[in-house]
Amino acid sequence: MTAIDPRIAGMKRNLERFKLILPVMSPKGGVGKTFATALLAHILSRKYECISLFDADLTNPTLHVVLGLNAKNMKIIEERGVKPVKVNERLELMSLALFVDEYSIPLRGKDVENVIKELLAVTRWSGRILLIDTPPGFSDTHLELLKILSSVSKSLIILVTTPNYIALKSIERGIKILLLESVKLAGILGNMCVSTEDEFKIESMTHRYGIMYLGCIPYVDRIENYFGLNLANMLKHVEHLYNNIVKSIDNFTGV
Ligand SMILES: Nc1ncnc2c1ncn2[C@@H]1O[C@H](COP(=O)(O)OP(=O)(O)OP(=O)(O)O)[C@@H](O)[C@H]1O
Ligand SMILES: [Mg+2]
Repeated sequence: MTAIDPRIAGMKRNLERFKLILPVMSPKGGVGKTFATALLAHILSRKYECISLFDADLTNPTLHVVLGLNAKNMKIIEERGVKPVKVNERLELMSLALFVDEYSIPLRGKDVENVIKELLAVTRWSGRILLIDTPPGFSDTHLELLKILSSVSKSLIILVTTPNYIALKSIERGIKILLLESVKLAGILGNMCVSTEDEFKIESMTHRYGIMYLGCIPYVDRIENYFGLNLANMLKHVEHLYNNIVKSIDNFTGV
């Protein structure tokens, strides 16, 4: 007889509080998933009360860095589980960095499953929308997350790509995999575009697959200057994303 895993009930209970879960994915590394996740959190926090963030990049968690948090100062607060770290009044984050500081822990498949289940089972969120930053590719982490999320059925995936030829080829491969998995896509977000031609490349690819084009984050020199509190100043450069993202979410949630 297989033993019942008590974390599954805890995880479901914790995730069911969310109106919507938005995993941010890309088969290609370095396209800006983490930066886009942090920026999306700020964009969405203008309309929706509290946004929760989960860094599912277990071996290289960096979302806290973009959000301006120092792992050394992130305190574990236990209260019938573990409370996410407050980024500001409207954003909260759960990351393995909270437990391992700036160290990396290499994980095998079963360990990945355990860490994800453990974190999702103990975290006491307060938001209604959860954004998940994921590592590159379609690895054990993604498969585990997709399995967990299919049981709460409120997730919409956001794919991120740059206009780079290889990134576009990779994202097409990603779309095909996800369509086979029958998951729902919020749309494709472009990043690091420097021209309208760049935007056009991404937009025309999304149309070929009948997926919503969410818009593009421009390439910004010395982007580290926008990390942390300054991220909110970046919003004026991405005003056009707000309506598309909110429209995609509202279509799904029927708000
Ligand atoms: N719009 C942008 N303009 C300029 N630089 C950017 C932009 N977006 C992200 N970057 C930079 O590109 C690098 C990769 O970004 P990021 O870490 O967000 O990508 P990622 O897809 O999460 O990477 P990984 O696959 O390793 O998780 C970082 O140095 C980041 O600061
Ligand atoms: Mg990343």
